[in-house]
Amino acid sequence: MAAKQPLIISDRNQMRKWSRMMRSQGKTVGFVPTMGFLHEGHLSLVREAHRHTDVVVVSIYVNPGQFSPTEDLSVYPSDFDGDVRKLMAVPGSVDVVFHPHNLYDYEGTNKKKSTSMINNVVVLSCIEQKGMGHETWVRVENLEKGLCGKSRPIFFRGVATVVTKLFNIVDPDVAVFGKKDYQQWRIIQRMVRDLDFPIEVVGSAIIRDSDGLAMSSRNVRLSPKEREQALSINKSLLGAKSAAANGQIDCNKLKNFVIQAITEAGGRIDYAEIVDQESLEVVESIEAPVVFCVAAWFGKVRLIDNTEINL
Ligand code: PAJ
Repeated sequence: MAAKQPLIISDRNQMRKWSRMMRSQGKTVGFVPTMGFLHEGHLSLVREAHRHTDVVVVSIYVNPGQFSPTEDLSVYPSDFDGDVRKLMAVPGSVDVVFHPHNLYDYEGTNKKKSTSMINNVVVLSCIEQKGMGHETWVRVENLEKGLCGKSRPIFFRGVATVVTKLFNIVDPDVAVFGKKDYQQWRIIQRMVRDLDFPIEVVGSAIIRDSDGLAMSSRNVRLSPKEREQALSINKSLLGAKSAAANGQIDCNKLKNFVIQAITEAGGRIDYAEIVDQESLEVVESIEAPVVFCVAAWFGKVRLIDNTEINL
């Protein structure tokens, strides 16, 4: 049987209309927001969404609102046609790929920009434009402070805002996020609770390559040597997890072990923190369910990974 061809929608009103039509037919809508350049990690979220709802929407949108001026938005990889092919190969495919051109253009939502580079520049100037520009931001004040929030101070403001916009446009019943971005998942869960979005937020397991590296759109930018070095993240996290299972609950000792392993492999640590799974507050010793989160640089690529520890 030929794979189902998803509907590709770029206009927000069309997207909203489609979801309303589904709802009126008694169907539930699942949603997987992404920035494209899809890999097995993203596709696992689509499979998870199919387990919860009748129809599934995937959005592909590189959100300029979550990149700081020093982070080069233009090097973010993209392959829209390849992404659609990958989505079609998932059992059940997807019903809609929502691919907006510019979510911060309030003049004409239908304006097509021909290349992503031009698009990026136009999008940024739309956000920054004084007066008519975008000025409303969603902040999840405490959860956004630690971990990735320390070195990327505007990142979660951008994520929470674009996810709010996407939720308002796609209007899903269930939204699926990867635990690979643990802090992001918890922030969206909290935002949905605090702002009364009628949406269930599901967290889905981290998908890894066979050698243990957590899949990420950024991995293609690693040299073969850096990729080898990056395996130290998952290896040392697993080491820490088994040490904890064997009674080592002192977080400083566990953190030092991971920091040393990654540094010796050639990585540069951004942070290595053991935090409460819900509040994301740093803990000194493992008494309740925690998550060990790491961010480290390998060359010019910053990778994140984590492991939950439930003793
Ligand atoms: P992106 O990095 O494209 O990730 C989209 C979703 O895929 C996120 O929920 C992320 O956690 C999940 N994901 C990525 N790699 C994964 C892996 N190896 N295993 C499981 N899930 C994985 O996260 C974003 O985009 C953006 O911040 C977004 C939420 C779309 C807002 O712009």
